[in-house]
Amino acid sequence: MNTTGAAKWMSLLLALPAMAAAMLSTMAVMSTAAWADEPIPYAQGNALMVRYKCDSCHDAYSTLKAPSLNAIARKYATDPTAQGELETMVVNGSSGVWGTNSGMPPSDVPAADLHELVEWILSLR
Ligand code: HEC
Repeated sequence: MNTTGAAKWMSLLLALPAMAAAMLSTMAVMSTAAWADEPIPYAQGNALMVRYKCDSCHDAYSTLKAPSLNAIARKYATDPTAQGELETMVVNGSSGVWGTNSGMPPSDVPAADLHELVEWILSLR
């Protein structure tokens, strides 16, 4: 190997860590984006329903004291602002929307969990 060849090898070797770093950060961005679009698994949404006792009135597919989550998801399916509206309704409580029931009391679900809960409910169509 002549000196020029050796110099080329050296510069390639020195460039490797930079290339690896660039690839890693691209992968990090890609996985974050994938995570944001990922549907919330049923078990995860259901665990939140249990934690915040929503399940004492709501079932995913049958009507109990309250409309089923599936019925809610279908009712708001074409409403582009449903996510925010429903988050507000869960926090403030709601009555009169679904007719014959005693209404929903206010709740204090923390914002991050509330966002996930409502996103999950809206996915149950
Ligand atoms: C005490 C019973 C009860 C509990 C507990 C309860 N809900 Fe409800 N929920 C209702 C009733 C009744 C309605 C229908 C209200 C209406 O007709 O306006 C409702 C409606 C809703 C709606 C649709 C909003 C609307 O009125 O169109 C969402 C979303 C919802 N509940 C989510 C939740 C979540 C999330 C929890 C847990 C944090 C929860 N609920 C806890 C009784 C309950």
